[in-house]
Amino acid sequence: MCNKKFHSGDLSQYAFAVTGGAGFIGSHLLEYLLSHNAGRIVVLDDLSSGSKENLKQAEGYKGFQFVEGSICDVNACEKALHGVDFVMHQAALCSVPRSLANPVATNDVNVSGFLNVLMAAKKNGVKRMVYASSSSVYGDSKILPKSETNPVSPLSPYAVSKYTNELYASVFARNYGMNLIGLRYFNIFGPRQSPGGPYAAAIPLFVSALLEKRSPVIFGDGEQTRDFTFVENVVQANIKALFAPEEANGNVFNIACGEQTTINQLFKMLAESAGSSLMPEYKPYRTGDVKDSIADISKAKLLLGYTPEVNFNKGIETTWNWYKTVYKVKSS
Ligand SMILES: NC(=O)c1ccc[n+]([C@@H]2O[C@H](COP(=O)([O-])OP(=O)(O)OC[C@H]3O[C@@H](n4cnc5c(N)ncnc54)[C@H](O)[C@@H]3O)[C@@H](O)[C@H]2O)c1
Repeated sequence: MCNKKFHSGDLSQYAFAVTGGAGFIGSHLLEYLLSHNAGRIVVLDDLSSGSKENLKQAEGYKGFQFVEGSICDVNACEKALHGVDFVMHQAALCSVPRSLANPVATNDVNVSGFLNVLMAAKKNGVKRMVYASSSSVYGDSKILPKSETNPVSPLSPYAVSKYTNELYASVFARNYGMNLIGLRYFNIFGPRQSPGGPYAAAIPLFVSALLEKRSPVIFGDGEQTRDFTFVENVVQANIKALFAPEEANGNVFNIACGEQTTINQLFKMLAESAGSSLMPEYKPYRTGDVKDSIADISKAKLLLGYTPEVNFNKGIETTWNWYKTVYKVKSS
């Protein structure tokens, strides 16, 4: 990750909690805090999809603490958030198909767990909490680009859980005066995104397949679009949201690049990077998936000062180079 600075002032006077800090996005937030001299950093993670490997970067950092536990456990939440100034809440069961396979588990972690984190934040009087929402709340909205003023229409239990987070945040802000900001992430990618497990995202799945010289699967005709967003932009959004002026409180913001790419274009680009002539295997569309996605990011630009600095092409290049270096090709 770069050494760019997305905040003014000195982080050494603050304590931060990152839930899901052992995961893909959380570990990049952790990296930012470590490299900008944060006073204290607590990661709360149950390592269900995250890994200790992602926490190695914090080894030896004086102000670092890892609380291994679940956000479903009230005590673990209170322990992790004790005395912190800021919370970046990332922990969740991700993936639309996973939520369709087990809606109760998704609700337990993403809704009840979120509520536990909110209650712990309230109890500890945190200055501000920024939490990960998702573009999935828009469902298959035909109004493009998707703006925060679009109606929401969740198509999966995962999307319901993320929208429920926003409703709870709004109610907690109104009734308890808490400072809460939701970020609706649009298809985030980058180094450390796991290609493992049945619910991995498209980019790590495509890259790992190409490195293993296998054809990746595309669901549908591949002409569906996504606003793929490099993870460094998400770090920027989180840090800027933490320190944004008061008027940002209580809002939700699209976090994306504002660029539309088809899955076929994505595959072609990755195959070119790999120097591969493999063709993808096409399978029927999955239920719960949306057809088209592109964000209007003007609200985040205006109120957070967010400007995506790494475009899709540059992000893909960086990501490809990272996997090429670290990914261990499975022997067949
Ligand atoms: N990656 C994306 O494209 C994307 C898009 C929209 C929203 N989001 C949201 O961003 C956040 C981070 O996603 P990610 O891509 O880094 O996924 P990830 O799976 O890499 O990270 C999630 C982390 O949360 C941890 N976790 C899961 N359940 C937990 C629990 N009960 N208690 C404590 N920790 C738990 C996991 O171990 C993992 O480290 C999630 O809230 C996700 O819903 C991600």
